[in-house]
Amino acid sequence: MEALPRIARGAGSYLYDEAGRRYLDGSGGPAAFSIGHGNAEVNAAIAAQLARVACGYRYLFTSEPLEELTRLLLALCGSEFAHVLLSGSGSEAMESALKVALQYWDARGATSRKHFIARERSYHGNTLGALSVSGFSERRRPFEGSLLEVSFVSAANDYRGLEGLAGAALTQALARELEARIVAVGAGRVAAFIFEPVVGAAGGVVPPPAGYAQAVRAVCARHGVLLIADEVMCGAGRCGSWRALEADGVVPDIMAVGKGLAGGYIPLAATVVAREVGDRILAAQGAFLTGHTYSGHTTACAAALAVQRIVARESLVRRVHERGTALLAQLRAALARFTEVGDVRGRGYLIGVEFVRDRATREPLPAERAFSHTLGRHAFEDGLIVYPCAGNVGGTAGDTVIVAPPYNASDAELEELIERLTRAVGRTVAQR
Ligand SMILES: Cc1ncc(COP(=O)(O)O)c(C=O)c1O
Repeated sequence: MEALPRIARGAGSYLYDEAGRRYLDGSGGPAAFSIGHGNAEVNAAIAAQLARVACGYRYLFTSEPLEELTRLLLALCGSEFAHVLLSGSGSEAMESALKVALQYWDARGATSRKHFIARERSYHGNTLGALSVSGFSERRRPFEGSLLEVSFVSAANDYRGLEGLAGAALTQALARELEARIVAVGAGRVAAFIFEPVVGAAGGVVPPPAGYAQAVRAVCARHGVLLIADEVMCGAGRCGSWRALEADGVVPDIMAVGKGLAGGYIPLAATVVAREVGDRILAAQGAFLTGHTYSGHTTACAAALAVQRIVARESLVRRVHERGTALLAQLRAALARFTEVGDVRGRGYLIGVEFVRDRATREPLPAERAFSHTLGRHAFEDGLIVYPCAGNVGGTAGDTVIVAPPYNASDAELEELIERLTRAVGRTVAQR
């Protein structure tokens, strides 16, 4: 592996290494840094909390930041939700989501509901449970045999649709497939269906076909199966609504949110649980049986509150919603000249570009060419951070790159992003 530059500092949408090189953060690393870097207000909130106390251990103390963040999250997510479990990463939040689903069925005496159904080309985290429900062969391979037994249904991808279908027809086919799978496993054995409302790294950003979330919601409801939405990457405003699924008019039973929540200032993620689900668990068993030493870490909560204060005060979710459409159109226009650009898609500030050998057939580029990784390197050398993701076609082929700038990036910075990305694509297609 090549030696990495040493990070020195960050300011707004830019990062600087020790050699003085500047990088425009065009993807928040893996879509994490919602309000950019080095924000003085967030840093002051963190320092002020540290000066008081770093952390009150969760079984001994509550704290104002913890309580305020819990209230804020419930207000942002909607009145159907009533419980928040805080953790340190998206993987932990998804692990908790799976455990909450299992505990719910246990609390209801439905002890045979232990099975999860998830989707191919999905990513839910690196811990064994979260990895088990991830349809991501490259990340699973060394651990196969020790993962939970999970059923996978097809990815919901308009560009690479099941049997060449797209839009509402694809949605219907996918809903039928999910229902058939639930019936085949036995509805009384299925605990939950897990999906990313907008797929991130596993597909190079894949928004759902029309009506998909509502259709799977209805299938799950018919069979009493819980719906778990993984909004670790696509939530917290990244797609232009605070919950990504708001745009689809769907409320899941359990959702996970991470990355943009505390914007990378301190690791923090949350599992947000519907009232009915959490109340049942608490009534029957008194507590959620999940959590870690630093769950609800006081300073992490203070950081998230400061980030969310800025997001609200500066109407950044609205900006992402409004500016995202234009950013997508600008990227499409700038990249149209390259025949290798097969698709530019996304929602809000979560945008993916897919590269192909043939636009008409959508045949992927040869995996040996490592196009997306080369592109990521070229962009980085030119001072732009984007997120290359390979393997979205069958696990080895397929090249995509994710663009996910900070919500408060200026118009000039977004122009610069487009310009540098276009330059990097030009350099990469020229190199054979
Ligand atoms: C959709 C999704 N879920 C879960 C995770 C895991 O989050 P973390 O890396 O914070 O553990 C990620 C990370 O990229 C993700 O994109």
